[in-house]
Amino acid sequence: MDEKKTSHQNPFRLNGRFAFFKGFLRHPSAVGSIIPSSRFLERRLVDIGGIARRRMVVELGPGTGGTTLALLNALPRSSRLLAVEVNPEFFARLQTIADPRLEVHLGSAEHIGQALAQHGWQRPDAVVSGIPFSNMPAECGRRILRAIWACLAPGGCFVAYQFMKRVAELAHETLGPPAVALEFLNVPPVRVYCWQKPIAAASGDTAHRSADGRPSAQAVFAADPPPG
Ligand SMILES: C[S@@+](CC[C@H](N)C(=O)[O-])C[C@H]1O[C@@H](n2cnc3c(N)ncnc32)[C@H](O)[C@@H]1O
Repeated sequence: MDEKKTSHQNPFRLNGRFAFFKGFLRHPSAVGSIIPSSRFLERRLVDIGGIARRRMVVELGPGTGGTTLALLNALPRSSRLLAVEVNPEFFARLQTIADPRLEVHLGSAEHIGQALAQHGWQRPDAVVSGIPFSNMPAECGRRILRAIWACLAPGGCFVAYQFMKRVAELAHETLGPPAVALEFLNVPPVRVYCWQKPIAAASGDTAHRSADGRPSAQAVFAADPPPG
C-alpha cells in the first residue's frame, strides 16, 4: 500500500476568504465566523484528530475548503474523506477540489448516517466538525452529537473546534467530558474539543486508548472544567 502523502497547495485561500465572507453575510448563524480557520488551527485539527493514521474521516462544515485541504494533505493516500456541507455555494466550491480520496455531500450534519449510507461508507474513525453548535437550538445540537457518536467507529475520535463552550454542555450527557486545547493563533482564538469513543464499553483502561493502543486525547490534554 502506497502511503505517500498528496500535497495540495491552497491557490484559492484569498479568493476563499472572500467567498466565505459572502457566505457569512448570507447565513451568519450557520457559517458562524467571518473568516475561515487559520493555518495554525488547521494544523492543530490534523494533530488532535490523528489524521495521518486515519482510514475514513468525515468533515462536518468544511466551508470553502481550507480545512478540507489540510485534512487531505495529512491523510494517507489510501484513506478517504467525506465532506458534509449544508451551504450550496460552499458545496459547489468544494466540488472543484480534485482529489480521488474526497467525496463531497450536500446536506446537514444531522443526517450524517444517511450521508454515510448514500456514499457506501462504513463507520468513520474520525469526525472533524466546525459547525457552530452555539448558534443552533439545543435539541438540534444534541441530535447531531448523538448521530455522530452512533456512527463513529469504536476507538475513533470526534473533534469539534468552537468559539464557545456550548458543544461541551450539549455533549456532556452522551459523550462525557472532552479533552480540550486552546488555539490562540486564530481569529478569534478557538477551543478544540476531542472525544474518544471507547473501544469497548466499561472496559477500564481501554476506554482511554485508541484503536492502535495509544493513549487517547483524554490522557494527553487537560480536561475542561465541567460545563455550567
Ligand atoms: C465556522 S464555518 C467552518 C468552515 C471551515 N471548516 C473553516 O474552518 O474555515 C462552519 C461551516 O459549517 C457549515 N454548517 C453549519 N451548519 C451545518 C450543518 N448542520 N451541517 C453541515 N454543515 C453545516 C457552514 O455552512 C460553514 O461552512
